[in-house]
Amino acid sequence: MTQYKIPVIPGDGIGPEIIAEGRKVIDAAGEKFGFDVDWVEFPHGADHYLETGELISEDSLKELSGYKGIYLGSIGDDRIAPGVLEKGILLAARFYFDQYINLRPIKLLDGVWCPIKDKTPADIDFTVVRENTEDFYIGIGGRAKSGTSKDLLEVHRTLYNAKFGLDIETDSEEIGYQVGMISKEGTQRVISYAFDLAEKSKKHVSSVDKANVLSDIYGFWREEFNAVAEKHPDVTTDFNYVDAMTMWFVKNPEWFDVVVTPNMFGDIITDLGAMVQGGLGLAPGGNINPEGTSMFEPIHGSAPKYKGQNKVNPIATIWAGAMLIEQMGEKEAADTIVSAIETNISEAKVQTYDMGGSAGTSDVGEDIARIVLGK
Ligand code: IPM
Ligand code: MN
Repeated sequence: MTQYKIPVIPGDGIGPEIIAEGRKVIDAAGEKFGFDVDWVEFPHGADHYLETGELISEDSLKELSGYKGIYLGSIGDDRIAPGVLEKGILLAARFYFDQYINLRPIKLLDGVWCPIKDKTPADIDFTVVRENTEDFYIGIGGRAKSGTSKDLLEVHRTLYNAKFGLDIETDSEEIGYQVGMISKEGTQRVISYAFDLAEKSKKHVSSVDKANVLSDIYGFWREEFNAVAEKHPDVTTDFNYVDAMTMWFVKNPEWFDVVVTPNMFGDIITDLGAMVQGGLGLAPGGNINPEGTSMFEPIHGSAPKYKGQNKVNPIATIWAGAMLIEQMGEKEAADTIVSAIETNISEAKVQTYDMGGSAGTSDVGEDIARIVLGK
């Protein structure tokens, strides 16, 4: 029997409940397809931070880097200032492991109620490839009061380093600034990934930017997009400004195949994508480094108000679990999990409140595990 060791970070809020169901379903898939998972628990999240002061240490990250895939619940807790855990754990891991792809399938499953009138699963089936290490997420910026001051902003990546020495002079009472940056290497690799994906599907790639206003950063993005597109003459393309993109996602979702986007716009449009596919409870994501350590999570947050109530929908996390084992090489098991999710939904017997049912989180996990096992 194949043996996998998979680290799991249940995290905060509803994280532990939804991860428990994801594990249950993966374990069932292992039983059926002949693999066994040894889950290695990591404590990172709000409680661990409050107890020890550690967000995620270099040592923990080093240890995690020995694995191919990490299973993550959700990070975020209202006892701690917004951003501390998100940046200190989630973004720290994405950057440390250089998970430059954030893969977010937008797929309306059979039987799911779609908020867009007359759209069916045939219309809503595309993938967003969100760049995951650059853009306005690099976390450099600052504040300056009236007068002159200096600041040194630094970005450290596996791929490159960048430093900005700023001489600031302002007569405003106070200014705040944030530097967005993309690199040639970072942009090319994510766009190439998107084209490779499109080669295997409907051969169309849509680019998202705001080159009409933020022309230095996204004009550069477009240039690199065109350079990569030239190497894929059989793939058709289009450019979209992000504001228009939100309109197209709702109006003509059937147009899309692979959508490639800089980090911040990708964050925004994938919440919309989640809604188009039936809600945040159904939307999974993978933070991928194709050659290194990837990390799979639902795209929703930790929903602290539902914590411990056995109420929320575990499907996004279960689906993220399918992406995780696909990354481990278990494609058939992964497909079986996704189709078990579809069966659970179309049977419409065991569903959480957001899908109109009254079942608990654990009931849904058990039901999907049962379907995986063919019982
Ligand atoms: C997401 C989340 C994160 C992001 C937050 C929690 C840092 O919204 O995964 O989409 O902005 O990337
Ligand atoms: Mn988000």
